[in-house]
Amino acid sequence: MDEVRLGVNVDHVATIRQARGTRYPDPVTAAALAESGGADQITIHLREDRRHIQERDLRILRETVQTRLNLEMAATKEMSKIAYEFKPDMVTLVPEKREELTTEGGLDVAMRRDPIKDQVRFLQDGDIHVSLFIDPDIDQIRAAHKVNANAVELHTGAYCEAKSQGVRQQEFGRLVDAAKTCSKIGLPVYAGHGLTLNNLAPVAALLEITEFNIGHSIIARAIFVGMVEAVREMKQAILQARSGQ
Ligand code: PXP
Repeated sequence: MDEVRLGVNVDHVATIRQARGTRYPDPVTAAALAESGGADQITIHLREDRRHIQERDLRILRETVQTRLNLEMAATKEMSKIAYEFKPDMVTLVPEKREELTTEGGLDVAMRRDPIKDQVRFLQDGDIHVSLFIDPDIDQIRAAHKVNANAVELHTGAYCEAKSQGVRQQEFGRLVDAAKTCSKIGLPVYAGHGLTLNNLAPVAALLEITEFNIGHSIIARAIFVGMVEAVREMKQAILQARSGQ
């Protein structure tokens, strides 16, 4: 059977809550509904500025998530200590800039090999799998392998946001090469950022990629069709793309 996971990122449920400082909508409720719709993993990004997900969400989700909990976070010692305490199933290390709207590029593992290696080891000592969010770049893949990451997540943003068909094809080619390189060296490969029902199919059809983390488009769609249905549609689209239909 084709093993593929859909990780549903519920950050933007917390974004709406934080906009008014209310108790609703609760990302914990969203996570439970996402699992009902077929999510194989719940993904949250605890940002250093706490603009959406709070430590309270991480604590409760650690207790309530039935599938897997993937914590995205900056590659800092302070964040690693939090992860070590709460023990998500997986940490995805991402670059973080306070002024950005969302994660804008991949982690530069090649430039920061030693500190990232220390952090990977620290988290793995706590029984946490570590994935590195990187651009689809061969040097970054090699560096991720060298620091003993358990997996990499390829940044699909440049592919998703391409303004012309030519650029999109070029960016898709980079994802194909990156996925194949990971597969060749035995490094599990995931993908995410900017994926929607409209642009997902070619990427989801790459069988080397075994996990997709998708947030904004699912939460946006959930406003109209509900969380369970929005997740069901996305999962269906992934499975359909992989079956070649
Ligand atoms: N993967 C990573 C590492 C991310 O940082 C994000 C955004 O938080 C996502 C996936 C999901 O991206 P989007 O919300 O655009 O689907």
